[in-house]
Amino acid sequence: MTFKNTLSFAQQLDAEDQLAAYRDQFHFPKVEGKDVIYFTGNSLGLQPKRTSAFVEEIMKDWRDLAVEGHFYADKPWWDYHERLAEPLAKVVGAKASEISVMNTLTVNLHLLMVTFYRPTQKRYKILCEEKAFPSDQYMFQSQIKFHGLDISDTLVEVKKREGEHFWRTEDVLSKIEEVGDELALVLLGGVNYYNGQVFDMQAITRAGKAAGAYVGWDLAHAVGNVELKLHDWDADFAAWCSYKYMNSGPGNASGVFIHERYHGRTDIPRFEGWWGTKKETRFLMQPEFDPMDNADAWQISNAPVLALAPYLASLEMFEEVGMPALIEKRNKIVAYLEFILREIDKEVDSSFEIITPKARGTQLSVFLHGEGRSLFDYLMKNGVITDWREPNVIRLAPAPFYCSFEDMYHFGQILKRGIEES
Ligand SMILES: Cc1ncc(COP(=O)(O)O)c(C=O)c1O
Repeated sequence: MTFKNTLSFAQQLDAEDQLAAYRDQFHFPKVEGKDVIYFTGNSLGLQPKRTSAFVEEIMKDWRDLAVEGHFYADKPWWDYHERLAEPLAKVVGAKASEISVMNTLTVNLHLLMVTFYRPTQKRYKILCEEKAFPSDQYMFQSQIKFHGLDISDTLVEVKKREGEHFWRTEDVLSKIEEVGDELALVLLGGVNYYNGQVFDMQAITRAGKAAGAYVGWDLAHAVGNVELKLHDWDADFAAWCSYKYMNSGPGNASGVFIHERYHGRTDIPRFEGWWGTKKETRFLMQPEFDPMDNADAWQISNAPVLALAPYLASLEMFEEVGMPALIEKRNKIVAYLEFILREIDKEVDSSFEIITPKARGTQLSVFLHGEGRSLFDYLMKNGVITDWREPNVIRLAPAPFYCSFEDMYHFGQILKRGIEES
């Protein structure tokens, strides 16, 4: 498609957009009375308008039923979390039995390490990407220390090549092969938070497993953003947060995927609690742990229903729309954003370098050569919510649920003015 950098063309794209009506189903912050152009759905998604009703339902049930709400609310609390499994399974390409929602992301990664990182004398190394999200780095380091191992010997980071901004799949694969039978675990971010790169999760999973390692994925930036087929790819486990593209609210609950081959087993290590025991016998309060025969065996505490309500509201929207439609719009709106950036680049002195490779989802990370933080401040003051990463990269993630093509056009104009005035 040939794009044009005009308001009327952007409006035409919006008129053709099958998801356009969803924009109005979100609350937008305002700057000087106007909805902002929101590029930070990769950090915190906007609030769907239907979310309050889901939360209010729990508040009302609590008010009217108190403890009886566990069993007699319209959506009983004791198994409320199970409602999220089926729609989430579609988002991540899994069976519903392989999904559980609990805790928060880093906590879940730690808990999953109990099962999937069991270093031996020979096989003890962990492979990840260099400069993984800091919380993942701290998680790795503390796990390694917990096992009494040496971090520099145990943690193998796949580097980008000199002068390149992305990881090459062949470099990840050859590093896996090189570490070989010393490799205990491969755990990467499915989509890198900084450059927006989508890793070849299928190829890496296959290679990691062929080397005899467990393979897991941190899908914080991937879920609700890119196509995932966790079951078919044969990943062992994955975890993600829900507050980015999943629009479930700040700091909200994490989801986990645990491949069905681990279900129902009593011989694998796992930190356990009463919500992981069989539902039928849970309230008999017996001393023996009898695991649920699905991913819920990894549940520990009773579900934080007030937190799950916004997640359920959001999943209802994913059910209505489906990932294929979101991905189709994503491809078009990101391509249009890229086009706008290249057009503006021609019109101003500064130059933009898009460091996100072709294997991308919703996010474009843009190196602003010749510009400083003042441009970022100008954008924010003028109603463009984006984020800044050192040294001078802005990350732009036009979430397909609520960003419009017109937003992309206006962003280009504001960016141009910001550069000209700086
Ligand atoms: C890739 C990645 N991993 C881990 C985290 C940490 O998430 P949480 O604070 O929910 O544990 C984030 C948060 O943004 C993230 O982007």
